[in-house]
Amino acid sequence: MSIGTKLYRKTLLTIADNKFVEKLSVKYGQKLAEKFIASDTLAGALNKVKALNRKGIMATLDHLGEGIERLDEAAGYRDAYLKLLDGIARSRVDSNVSLKPSQMGLALDPETGYANIRAIVEKARETNLFVRIDMEGTPFTQATIDIVRRLHREGLTNVGTVIQAYLLRSEQDAAELSRERIRLRLVKGAYKEPGTVAYQHTDEVIDNFRKLIGLTLDQGIYTAVASHDDRILTWTKNYAAQKGIPRDAFEFQMLYGLRMNEQAKLAREGYRIRCYVPYGSMWYPYYTRRLAEKPANLWLVVRHMFH
Ligand code: FDA
Repeated sequence: MSIGTKLYRKTLLTIADNKFVEKLSVKYGQKLAEKFIASDTLAGALNKVKALNRKGIMATLDHLGEGIERLDEAAGYRDAYLKLLDGIARSRVDSNVSLKPSQMGLALDPETGYANIRAIVEKARETNLFVRIDMEGTPFTQATIDIVRRLHREGLTNVGTVIQAYLLRSEQDAAELSRERIRLRLVKGAYKEPGTVAYQHTDEVIDNFRKLIGLTLDQGIYTAVASHDDRILTWTKNYAAQKGIPRDAFEFQMLYGLRMNEQAKLAREGYRIRCYVPYGSMWYPYYTRRLAEKPANLWLVVRHMFH
């Protein structure tokens, strides 16, 4: 990552917390956000998933929402996920779900957060669906891992979490969780983290990402490699081919609206590919992180502001 790009990302992730910027972005960014957000509604999102499934692309649906301030909001999100699970079962789309622990109340009251997540995982198990607990910033890393471990110990094994390659602790976490047969999604990491806990250079993050992929695949853990980066995609394909790891022993994941042609191509090549499909009205923080990753997207917003 160049110094310019690093500065851009840091600045954008900082101003994302600013209410004035939020208002501006909500006003002008809405049209552009449609590129990354499948729909405002569950029904609309399920239709988008159907279209993806027709191309051989699986999905994971994310009902957007994070940074809540009251526990009744968390209960509302839990109920939205229970409805989402019903919607998936009814429409028979090929999709599981992803959720944010803070959205379930983890930061306000860890036991309530756990109970809300448990209710979703339990219901998902009834219809054989998998729940992915997304990984947020480092204040939540250990608590998120603890919840997933606790659910596995209680026999709820249809749940996994995410390991961020930029964190220094991730190699150890991935090794331990793989030994416990907990399924992982591997990503670079999308939050602003200091040098005391995270690699700051792209090359180091990519090296660590590759190490994590090798480590989990070697343990025979069904792994989700979530990246749009050819340096990761090509490496994974080659690693699996060299080691004789079959194509159904792992999956690629990409975000809705990004590299859609590449997603369809991977499906045609016989790889398992899952698209992360966010929907709902609380799109601002998710959208801002996408902008922080790719400067080109910000210029699109700026152009919208002046037209
Ligand atoms: P990045 O966006 O950095 O792109 C690197 C390179 O990829 C580019 O320079 C280019 O070469 C290539 N590329 C990218 N887009 C391209 C395009 N459109 N066309 C051609 N080439 C392109 N983070 C987190 O902290 N917690 C989480 O739970 C998750 N969950 C998650 C799920 C899924 C399914 C994905 C894909 C990602 C996440 N993330 C995440 C986000 C993740 O941490 C990371 O911020 C983004 O994926 C961006 O990093 P990439 O590896 O995708 O490449």
